[in-house]
This record gives sequence, structure tokens and C-alpha cells, in this order.
Amino acid sequence: MADLSTTYMGLKLKNPLMVSSSTLVQNLEGVRDAANAGAGAVVLRSLFEEIIRKETQPDSGKLWSAHPEEYDYVLSELEMQYGANAYLDLITQAKQAVDIPIIASINCHTPKWWVHYAKQIEAAGADALELNLSLMPLYPKKTSTEIEEEFLGIVKAAREAVKIPLAVKIGPYFTTLIRLANQMYGAGANALVLFNRFYQFDIDVEKMEIVGANWYSSPNEMSLSLRWIAALYGQINCELVGNTGIHSGLAVVKQILAGAQAVEIASAIYLNGFETLREMQTELAAWMDQHGYQSLEEFRGKLSLSQVKDPEMFERLQYIKALSGIS
Ligand SMILES: Cc1cc2nc3c(=O)[nH]c(=O)nc-3n(C[C@H](O)[C@H](O)[C@H](O)COP(=O)(O)O)c2cc1C
Repeated sequence: MADLSTTYMGLKLKNPLMVSSSTLVQNLEGVRDAANAGAGAVVLRSLFEEIIRKETQPDSGKLWSAHPEEYDYVLSELEMQYGANAYLDLITQAKQAVDIPIIASINCHTPKWWVHYAKQIEAAGADALELNLSLMPLYPKKTSTEIEEEFLGIVKAAREAVKIPLAVKIGPYFTTLIRLANQMYGAGANALVLFNRFYQFDIDVEKMEIVGANWYSSPNEMSLSLRWIAALYGQINCELVGNTGIHSGLAVVKQILAGAQAVEIASAIYLNGFETLREMQTELAAWMDQHGYQSLEEFRGKLSLSQVKDPEMFERLQYIKALSGIS
């Protein structure tokens, strides 16, 4: 029987399937369900910086929000469900309730406010911390260098604040991801989660409103993370985690062949329940048995671009082949 165990940032995982930060794991019940379904680890739903700001500076939101009423509404809802103290309690209780690693997550955009909570998260017993760096670059005067510096500043501040392993979850919109990934490592990141799936944008033409859409990913969204994990594996010192569009055991196989250390899954669980994690483990193990692999290490990164002499030319040739119909 294939051995699915792996390490992730020094933590021991029974298998590489982690539950991605989401409402699936916003309370103890979700954490228990995840552990019962055999999850390798859980990344708790993010603690939002806005909650921290509200606790420390009750009026700060009004200053920087163009929509103060909506801001207050969203915050009070979030705070009721998920204030910082409740978050810290959840970490402590989850650690007692299950025997899989508990990774906390913070959604932040300035180093100043959440460093304090990163320390508290560590003190509460989290095994690791994932920084959910989701910022839409919508200020016309901000340069890409400035944005990257902001991200790196957050990682550095977190590294100085805590000793536990740090993962950084980012979106796909970067020009020179390999360079940034190396800088993230230099700033103290142990792993990169590729990629966050941002809130999907749509417009309700009757109500004349911006609305959310496509809450859950589909399997064909995985190719983006697959490509970048294949490109980064062997080029950077961070471990790589596949995220977005992973809906089957064979998708996990592909991620590991590209070079992923582990994967994070949300939509497949929302759509099919926690049991889908068991099915994915069975499928992964069956594929390994069929192909004679006893451990993940034996095939991790086997199809990464580091196996190719000139990755840029390789990508270009694939592109030309695809456009000209050559198979
Ligand atoms: C309802 C919902 C809530 C989410 N909440 C968070 C969150 O608090 N923090 C975070 O980093 N990602 C959050 N995500 C994003 C997921 O962790 C994940 O990155 C994304 O859904 C892509 O993975 P998937 O294709 O397996 O769903 C959320 C996703 C959903 C659908």
C-alpha cells in the first residue's frame, strides 16, 4: 500500500490533502469533520485585519472606507462570527480536539496591525501561520515594485514576530513570480500557496449592482497553479502548495508531479462534502500502486520545468504547437 505521508514546512502530514482556509473550517465542528475525513492538515478560515483594527481603533474603518455603512455591517457580521478572541480559542480547542496540524490564517494588508495577533496565534498553539495576501492592485499610481515591497514587508514583519512556519498565499497576478518567490523566501516564507482564488466579479443588470459569482472553482481552473508550480519547483527554496481547482485524486497526482509539497482544497468539499477527501486519497493511492510508487517523494517534481533545459523556450514551443495545431 502506497505511503501518502509527507512533511510540510517541517510538520508531519498523514497525506498531502489539506482543507483550504474557508468557512468549512471556521469552527470546531468543521475541524473535526476534516480530521475524520482524513485531512492531512487544516488551514483555518482567515482572521481579517479589519477585525483587529476595529478592536484596537473602533473608528479606523470609517476613515479609509468609501462605504462606511457597508463596512460597518460587514465588520459587525464578521466580528460576531469570528472575532479575534474567538479565533484564538478555536486554535486552542482545535489543537486539543484533533491530532492533525492546525494552521492559522490571517488576511492582512499592512504589517502594523496584525503582528500582535500573529504572536497571539503562535501562543494559542497554531502549528503554522498562513498569510493570506489578497490585495487587488487598484491604485493607479502604485507601481508593481511598491506592491511587491508591501507584500515582502508583511512577510518580514510576520517572520520577526513568530517562530512557527510561515506560508504565504498569493494570487496569480505578478510579472516576475520567480523573483518574487525567491524574495518571499528571503523575507522568511517557508512555503508559497499558489494560487488564491479571488472573489469572482459579476454585474446584476436588473439590480444594477456588482455581485459575487461562481463561488466555487471548477477542475479546469487548476492549470494555472499547475503551470507555476512546475515552473517554480527546483528554482526556489520555498515549498509549494497547489490551490484552486483541485477536485480529484488525479488532480493531486498532477500537482505532485509538478512539484507540490501538498495541496489545499475547498470547492470540492463544498460541492461533495468532506468525504470527497477520502475518495481523493483512495484515488491517489491507487494511482501510486498502479505506477509502482511507494512514496510521494519518488515522483514529486518529476514533471516540473526544472527537468527541461530551457524552460522559457519549452513554454514557447508548447505555445506555438498549440496555436498551430501540431500535436
Ligand atoms: C466560502 C469561501 C470562503 C473562503 N474563505 C477564505 C478565507 O477566509 N481565507 C482564505 O485564505 N481563503 C478563503 N477562501 C479561498 C479558499 O481557501 C481557496 O483558496 C479557493 O476557494 C480556491 O480553492 P478551491 O478551488 O479548492 O476552492 C474561501 C473560499 C470560499 C469558497
